[in-house]
Amino acid sequence: MLKIMQSEIVATAVRPKQYPEDNLAEVAFAGRSNVGKSSLLNLITGRKNLARVSASPGKTQTINFYLVNKDHDPFRIVDLPGYGYAKVSKKVTQDWGEMMETFLTQRQGLRKVFQLVDVRHKPTAQDVQMYEFLKYYHLDGPVIATKADKVSKREAQNQMQVIRKTLGMEPEDVIIPVSALKKTGVDKVLDAMETIIGAE
Ligand code: GTP
Ligand code: MG
Repeated sequence: MLKIMQSEIVATAVRPKQYPEDNLAEVAFAGRSNVGKSSLLNLITGRKNLARVSASPGKTQTINFYLVNKDHDPFRIVDLPGYGYAKVSKKVTQDWGEMMETFLTQRQGLRKVFQLVDVRHKPTAQDVQMYEFLKYYHLDGPVIATKADKVSKREAQNQMQVIRKTLGMEPEDVIIPVSALKKTGVDKVLDAMETIIGAE
């Protein structure tokens, strides 16, 4: 069972030159702005303030690299800037797209991307686009249904079916409900991460 003993931010990047230089294994978190990517990072590392969390969308605007377990089987978790919030110019949207595409298609150590979606909502067109992009590049990891505390267990089960269908997930594709508030779902996320990092 993977345990995260240590974690620290090691790079903040908008372009490849700013990425960590080695090809250490990485997993990344992607999803709409405000979906809970940074909260999930804090949850699984057990660090309340490792990544900045905010109620207003657009908090994470750079690609943030976190080194985990540096003394023993190290890997990195990459917190990606969110998409889909209003009030950004065309130029910002375009820059975001280039920054993300460059990272996702050129990053040697990147194993899989965990895609986060809010359990309460049907995935948006952008969510679907991201998922299809990840599938195409064989980067699709588990889908994380966030904010599970906001709905009943039964409603969460229903919504996960909606998410599966909307994203076009295959029966073998994995979806994991998580609540950063209630601290549930951590073990399943860590198990998935261990499998991904452990596989060559
Ligand atoms: P960007 O950095 O803007 O892309 O957003 P993000 O995906 O990193 O979201 P962030 O972790 O900053 O969380 C956004 C808001 O959702 C914050 O107010 C969090 O406290 C809240 N939030 C995140 N996860 C959960 C959860 O599991 N349950 C509840 N109730 N709130 C959550
Ligand atoms: Mg964030």
